[in-house]
Amino acid sequence: ISLKPYNSFGFDVSARFFAVLESAEQLSDIRDFVQCNGIPVLFIGGGSNLVLTADLDQLVVVNRIKGLQITEAQSGELLVTAGGGEDWHQFVRWTLEQGAYGLENLSLIPGTVGAAPIQNIGAYGVEIKDRMVTLEAFDLETGEQVCFDSGDCQFDYRDSIFKSRFPGRYLITSVTFALSHAFRPVLHYGGLSGQLEARGIDSPEPLQLSDLICEVRDAKLPQPGRLGNAGSFFKNPVIPVQQAALLQQDFPQMVVFDDKPGYSKLAAGWLIDQLGWKGRREGDAGVYEKQALVLVNHGAASGVDIIELAGEIQADVYKQYGVMLEIEPRCYP
Ligand code: EPU
Repeated sequence: ISLKPYNSFGFDVSARFFAVLESAEQLSDIRDFVQCNGIPVLFIGGGSNLVLTADLDQLVVVNRIKGLQITEAQSGELLVTAGGGEDWHQFVRWTLEQGAYGLENLSLIPGTVGAAPIQNIGAYGVEIKDRMVTLEAFDLETGEQVCFDSGDCQFDYRDSIFKSRFPGRYLITSVTFALSHAFRPVLHYGGLSGQLEARGIDSPEPLQLSDLICEVRDAKLPQPGRLGNAGSFFKNPVIPVQQAALLQQDFPQMVVFDDKPGYSKLAAGWLIDQLGWKGRREGDAGVYEKQALVLVNHGAASGVDIIELAGEIQADVYKQYGVMLEIEPRCYP
């Protein structure tokens, strides 16, 4: 089966075996199947953080487990649980309609609820680790359903144990968030408050803030349905403050953010942009014209074409700044 409709880059590679998962009960059959046949399995959600470079000689399982539930905890927090196969953005909008606040800054991120913890999705000053309390996952190794709390997941910037330590081992069946009746907007990131001011909005309503985030994203990021991409293709590099200070002497305009103690985070988009990559293309593999951190498939590019382009960008950035960019999406096979 062709995986073209199942990956947001639109790469036309095929999977030897394919299954759509509607409920967690199907997982033991899937486990039996892969164990009997001795084949690897790849779990995918929205396919929006994937680079597929060749046909996959394995089983691909698309998580479509649905379900939404809200309960009020004794603390007054709202515990909201969603099936791993729910669409992330629709889920966020639904929470806001229910009067459960806290995820509004993560509006319009492509993908599914179950994929969100894997790379600890984040945007505009909020990461999923700030709101998630527990998740349920199926362990392909033991065949058991296990519960992880936020600490177990070892969340880091665009990272968790599901990405770094145990790739492919767990399928996330549901995720529970602690949200709030009280709306406490997070507006400190990159001029969000300026954007509100420009629109004459003093204190935004939750849906208004979500709409604004959608607008900001739309202005900078290509919609996967129209132009194949996987969001930011590189992580923003985190380097020691001393190294960042030296770079700033040579490049006074460089965009630098504070990070964990002793470290600074550089805007990779700025580094790439400065080297003239924005809007460039090599065949159908290109750099998005409005955001240099996003690589795009103009139609017939393959995963290999995109990785080659990424390699040229990495080499160029390294040559100029001495900083190695790390690829953010997951690459298979
Ligand atoms: N910049 C440029 N040129 C560019 C792109 C960016 O100069 O072509 C500069 C901007 O002017 C700004 C800075 O770089 O000063 C940061 O840019 P932006 O606010 O667009 O954010 P980003 O660092 O490029 C990160 C996340 C995004 C997330 C936004 C908003 C990563 C890898 N990316 O992008 O996440 O939406 O911040 O929080 O951390 C994703 O992970 O797929 C993703 C889209």
